[in-house]
Amino acid sequence: MMASSAHRGRGRVSRVTVRRSGSGSRRRCVARALLLGALLALVAVAAGCAGGQPDIFRPGGSAGEEIKTLSIQIFAILAVVLVVVWALLAFVIIKYRRRPEAEVSKTRGNLGIEIVWTLIPAIIVTVLFVLTVQATRQLAMPDPGAQFTTVGHRWWWEFDFPDQGFKTANEVYVAVGRPTSIDVESVDVIHSFWVPQMGGKVDMIPGHVNHIRFVPLKEGKYLGECSEFCGAQHGKMRFLFVVVSPEEYSAWAHDQAQPAAQPAGAEAVAGGELIQTIACGSCHTIRGTSLKGTFGPDLTHFGSRSGIAAYTLPNTPQNLLAWLQDPQAIKPECTMPTIPLPLREQQQLVAYLEELK
Ligand code: CUA
Repeated sequence: MMASSAHRGRGRVSRVTVRRSGSGSRRRCVARALLLGALLALVAVAAGCAGGQPDIFRPGGSAGEEIKTLSIQIFAILAVVLVVVWALLAFVIIKYRRRPEAEVSKTRGNLGIEIVWTLIPAIIVTVLFVLTVQATRQLAMPDPGAQFTTVGHRWWWEFDFPDQGFKTANEVYVAVGRPTSIDVESVDVIHSFWVPQMGGKVDMIPGHVNHIRFVPLKEGKYLGECSEFCGAQHGKMRFLFVVVSPEEYSAWAHDQAQPAAQPAGAEAVAGGELIQTIACGSCHTIRGTSLKGTFGPDLTHFGSRSGIAAYTLPNTPQNLLAWLQDPQAIKPECTMPTIPLPLREQQQLVAYLEELK
């Protein structure tokens, strides 16, 4: 501020000085604009990769690898286009900044130039098209037969293993290296199944079965999410997709197929008796008990899951108690009602559910 007012104070002399150094300051200005653009692009890329969100540039599945490769190819081509256009733009701005209009329009009607600048974008688009078609063909792997069905609900995920005879919710295991095929559908509105690091998305449509196929390549825990807006709690419709060794997968599937464990602790025993006398069974199933509802998640092995409320909170006794006391405070508009019970009975239910490993 001080410098600019001093500048103004010097009047005519300073204005002459400014005009003389005009080309240098314009060049600096263009250089700064280009630098700022490059920095903004870098910040955008870094922001996409930062934080605890799934990173599509660190895929764990075959389709994710294909999508990453295609993304990098397209990004590289577009980056070259961007740099060439910026360079030409800067060159023209600096070199021809003072030409009269009549001189600048000399290129008008030059057939050679018209053909070149029509052909270049056509070639670029053709290359992008061919790369995309190749990647899409790679994604279309042969059908190994669906291992399970994923059903979208507002707002949670059901995983149905009809061959093994069990259903689970919001957490599912698959074996590394084994071609995986998943049928997807919905019982209410359109959701979209997406495990970003495994591969693409697929719409979950009521009354229609879609499929998604890929080979999980790296063991690990991957966040899955709904990627189609489906109502108030779309943002809290998540699940855990766990890739393990074939042996661990077999052990998990074997455990899940068992009926619910008998409670051992005194609190859990009381909770196990209580849960069969209140409304829980109208929505939830716990195999081996009188609870046979199908509207809400199957709770047979609830204690083995690492999250609750569609992976909204870690599965801890404190969080489960908070969920039972006021589910609408955690997920407004969800279908889980508040069942008024004394604190002691709520704690007994928590003890029982956490023992259902
Ligand atoms: Cu389900 Cu968004």
